[in-house]
Amino acid sequence: MTDWTRRDLLKIGALVPAVSAFAAPNQALFESAAETVPQESPAPALSGKRERLLFDFGWRFALGHANDPSKDFGFGERSLFAKSNEFTDIATQRFDDSQWRAVDLPHDFAVELPFENEETLIEHGAKPLGRSYPATSIGWYRRVFQIPATDAGRRLSLEFDGVFRDSIVALNGHFLGRNLSGYAPFRYDITDFLNYGGANYLVVRVDATETEGWFYEGAGIYRHVWLVKTDPLHVAQWGTYVVSDVQGASAILSISTDIENDGDSETSCFVESTVTDSEGRRFGTARSSREQIAAGGRYTAQVQIHVNHVALWSVENPQLYKLRTRVQTDSGVVDEYENVFGIRTIQLDANKGFLLNGQPVVVKGTCNHQDHAGVGSALPDRLQYYRIQRLKDMGSNAYRTSHNPPTPELLDACDRLGMLVMDETRLFSSSSEGLSQLERLVRRDRNHPCVILWSVGNEEPVQATERGQRIAATMKRLIRELDTTRPVTEAMNGGWGKGVSNVVDVQGFNYEKNGNTDQFHQDFLAKPCIGSEEASTFCTRGIYENDKERGYISAYDVNRPSYGCGAEEWWTYYSVRPWIAGAFVWTGFDYRGEPSPYSWPCISSHFGIMDTCGFAKDNFFYYQAWWTPQPMVHVLPHWNWRGREGTPIEVWVHSNCEEIELLLNGTSLGRKTMRRNSHLEWQVPYAPGTLVARGFNGGKTSAEERIETTGDPAGVKLTPDRGTIDGDGEDVSVVTVGVMDSQGRLVPVAENEVTFTVDGPGKIIGVGNGNPSSHEPDKGSKRKVFNGLAQVIVQSQKQGGEIVLAAKADGLQSATVTIHAAAVTPRPSVA
Ligand code: GAL
Repeated sequence: MTDWTRRDLLKIGALVPAVSAFAAPNQALFESAAETVPQESPAPALSGKRERLLFDFGWRFALGHANDPSKDFGFGERSLFAKSNEFTDIATQRFDDSQWRAVDLPHDFAVELPFENEETLIEHGAKPLGRSYPATSIGWYRRVFQIPATDAGRRLSLEFDGVFRDSIVALNGHFLGRNLSGYAPFRYDITDFLNYGGANYLVVRVDATETEGWFYEGAGIYRHVWLVKTDPLHVAQWGTYVVSDVQGASAILSISTDIENDGDSETSCFVESTVTDSEGRRFGTARSSREQIAAGGRYTAQVQIHVNHVALWSVENPQLYKLRTRVQTDSGVVDEYENVFGIRTIQLDANKGFLLNGQPVVVKGTCNHQDHAGVGSALPDRLQYYRIQRLKDMGSNAYRTSHNPPTPELLDACDRLGMLVMDETRLFSSSSEGLSQLERLVRRDRNHPCVILWSVGNEEPVQATERGQRIAATMKRLIRELDTTRPVTEAMNGGWGKGVSNVVDVQGFNYEKNGNTDQFHQDFLAKPCIGSEEASTFCTRGIYENDKERGYISAYDVNRPSYGCGAEEWWTYYSVRPWIAGAFVWTGFDYRGEPSPYSWPCISSHFGIMDTCGFAKDNFFYYQAWWTPQPMVHVLPHWNWRGREGTPIEVWVHSNCEEIELLLNGTSLGRKTMRRNSHLEWQVPYAPGTLVARGFNGGKTSAEERIETTGDPAGVKLTPDRGTIDGDGEDVSVVTVGVMDSQGRLVPVAENEVTFTVDGPGKIIGVGNGNPSSHEPDKGSKRKVFNGLAQVIVQSQKQGGEIVLAAKADGLQSATVTIHAAAVTPRPSVA
């Protein structure tokens, strides 16, 4: 469930003007079973019966031990399950956690560990996690909290959005549960185990010994935790589901609501569902019939609401609605629950590709893992918006959550900013564990308008077999029970037409080079297709020669593995095959681990169109040229080649202009015609000075880029992505650190180390520079710039004020920047 306001949307720059339909909404409404409720405006505020409290602040943390109980706080020294309240003393008053460190969530303890040059670790980001590293693979989290006596009689639960991985949770000495998945959300009802009117002792033991993927996965409670308090009669977790049937300008919303009666007596109730727009204006209300729900029973209420002049969700105009659900008994409203949804139609067609609201939309997608510079996998919510916006700036309209259920706030960002999502589960399996993970993914995510496809797996060795087919069929059957509106796919790197292909609604091609897409299309004329993964182009930001020793690979669009493609190569291939819905580039951002084609000292991948900070590599501009309509020009490499005077330098231009002229120090090096979806090249004998690429449309200059040979580093420049953030203890400003010459030009080869300090109500939560071979700590207060750039992530505290970030580097002029933290009311959280 998501709370969002106009202020939230303004903050992320996502507010779209209300369309005229909203000025005079026609709230024709009806219901399937009972009375019709007259419309009013505005919708009533939440009654406040339900509380959803953020449980992120005030934890204590310590590393335990995977093999030695004496170093694991005695855990496992004696029988764990003999008596109910003696599971572990750590979750009781008897344990002293004063030696444990104070941490707030989200928290990734892997990112805090040093890098290790060990072959088995490198593909996972070179952090000491695993069977051979028992002293650094277990994380303990402990939190003492009060529950008022007045909560007795309510239903309380803990919701974990994601913990990596194999977590055991205990409360007041009692075992609550164990969850294996590092990505699927989970929930424990804690009502019976609480101490009402006193202190409660919660502990989470996280075992990151095993991996689930072949990339960096982090470790610890790296997503939010929530304490939810409700009446015994309440809407179940993820209990509402809205299906819209769009007919011209109106839509019929079929809303199902799962109600749970966790009380001791049978209760009679009905559900009232109200649809509002983002301003809270009511679009329709319907009431379900009254039902008797037995003690311990569950019931699904069904209503329909008819919305006229519907504002459809789209990539350009991501209109959202809110559903407010009230559960009413004879004594009044006992629960109010709110969720966001969107109204749109999707279709994957075997000949036309992807259609959104009936219009063809080419999927210009990227696959991504979830880590970012400085913070590992523990991203503050705001960073999700930063990353999605960076992808949108490039012209991308789709995101594949490879290869696991995403953080919920990533999907919120995609809903609000207009980014289509291929939502993928981690475990391709019809075992109870596999199906449970899948069910949690689908139930949680099925109201997000951004989600257009469910993916049940990636490059599974059994993909072409009958066994694979059976597994996929069982998984698809479960999805169909939970969501009737989205097609199912699997990302397959072979066996197209066999096994899993026989089950999925949409054929996912991982790399066109792995088979023959044209042959597939001929053989399976009715099967929609999508490039579930493409490219895997290798590039390091700001590097123009391969350097295996340092672990860098040239940023010209020329390096790829045998199965992969350059940016231009794959996009050219897909652009002439409109029957393929488009594709997802491996990857939008670099990620830790998988440093292919090299190994140590590399600790990060090179596949990103951007580096781990979100700084653009040159291919960003290839995509921007062909994925956005605005005229643009980008020229590469940089123009600082001291010592190479007279030597020819390969100069490339990415642009969507019709013709390009290149000029060195005012002299034209010729004008060339740009081929669609291509780039241009010149060989330019190096002379320091100014290189200008000028783009012409219809003979007139439409865009220009100028790069200059800079002087030596002279000063530091700090540029926050936002100068005002919320003083809520969660919001961040993403600050770009540039090393500049005396004329204020970024020095593209600078490597200076910069030291940071913060004054005022803020803190640095991570630093990075996108260097795939840097072994500097992410949690330090200093960082070298890599090819001129670094990044500092500054987080507010729960108060307003001026946060002053200062940066110093030896021999350079220092810099400061002030980030204003606005005094706001933080989200309700557990005290
Ligand atoms: C794919 C795989 C990705 C990543 C990529 C690297 O085959 O699905 O997870 O490993 O290769 O090129």
